[in-house]
Amino acid sequence: MTQSLPTLKIGPDGPLDRHLLTDRFGRIFNYLRIAVVERCNLRCIYCMPEEGIPFTARKELLTTDELLRVVRAGTGLGIRKIRYTGGEPLLHPDIVALVAGAASQPGIDSVHLTTNGVLLSRLAGELRQAGLSGVNISLDTLREDRFASITRRSELAAVLAGLEAAQTAGFESIKINVVALRGFNDDEIIDFAEMTRDADLTVRFIELMPFDAHQIWKTGTFLRLDVVRQQLASEYGALAAAEGSATETEAFRIPGFRGKVALIPAYTRSLCSACNRVRLTADGKLRNCLYGKHEYDLKAVLRGGGSAEDIRDLLREAVGHKARDGWAAQEEAVDGGGRERVSMTQIGG
Ligand code: GTP
Ligand code: 5AD
Ligand code: SF4
Repeated sequence: MTQSLPTLKIGPDGPLDRHLLTDRFGRIFNYLRIAVVERCNLRCIYCMPEEGIPFTARKELLTTDELLRVVRAGTGLGIRKIRYTGGEPLLHPDIVALVAGAASQPGIDSVHLTTNGVLLSRLAGELRQAGLSGVNISLDTLREDRFASITRRSELAAVLAGLEAAQTAGFESIKINVVALRGFNDDEIIDFAEMTRDADLTVRFIELMPFDAHQIWKTGTFLRLDVVRQQLASEYGALAAAEGSATETEAFRIPGFRGKVALIPAYTRSLCSACNRVRLTADGKLRNCLYGKHEYDLKAVLRGGGSAEDIRDLLREAVGHKARDGWAAQEEAVDGGGRERVSMTQIGG
């Protein structure tokens, strides 16, 4: 089915929205996801092999100054929201300064982190003070033995302490990212939903995506979100629709509960028409879609004496070539060249 798409308005001096990042399909990009490291202190089975992956040498990763130059330039194109990802962003030695630097930038409305939470209990207060608005914590199970088999590390207690510290620090937004895995956590959906009974947080069930060196998604671990939806409905009855973010195509509030539950169709990709994000990898490449392979070399611009306008030009170029959705991006990637990345840590989630 062809979707009808809004057209861009053209004025006497060209597109009226040239101070905004827009694509051929009328989408507006105001959200920049920046991977700050590739390394991680966990080894989630759907992300990295036990031995890790060939990590990029530190000197090839963007520096704190370079990252903040990109944030500053991006505000001139309407970038309003920054999310630091990784790898595990809390492993970055300057993470507090990166948050403070972005949060104090005129034009930036909010700065967020997606973290595995292991180091969060130590840093939550400082990050909040630095201006961090919210944290998304990856947590796929509430059971220690399963945590160890999914992440290959025994850190469940540290992550739960991180969550508690985040709640104490008073972030505006706290979300739990649960990758739905058949045979691993499909009997914990109600346990996760129960976390929203008394706490103002959002639990999000996420479809498994095919971005890992070992391709475990081919081994029967993919869990359809309708299974999750059905379990929630049979436990709680009718769920009240709630407002969700761009990835949360369905968000609910269980009647009487404080928090929210949401579904993220990361693989089936029914979220693409609302896409509002651009990605920057830790090694300085812009990517306009998780499922695309084409990269735009921002590091070359940053290290080649490029100006803020040059940074914006590359952002415009990357977004200008964005495919209609993740399926089209994947198709283009089959024969369109670009770089294969073997793990989500190299893309930034
Ligand atoms: P909010 O800003 O709180 O909505 O967070 P987010 O969903 O944008 O970011 P987060 O890093 O928490 O990602 C949650 C899940 O959504 C992860 O599994 C991501 O890989 C997936 N995801 C994020 N962005 C995209 C995207 O552009 N496309 C697809 N298919 N999945 C995405
Ligand atoms: N499929 C789905 N989600 C994934 N993440 C990492 N790898 C995958 C995958 N293969 C999630 C993490 C984290 C977010 C940034 O991406 O669990 O919550
Ligand atoms: Fe680390 Fe996140 Fe990858 Fe798990 S999914 S190994 S927490 S980067």
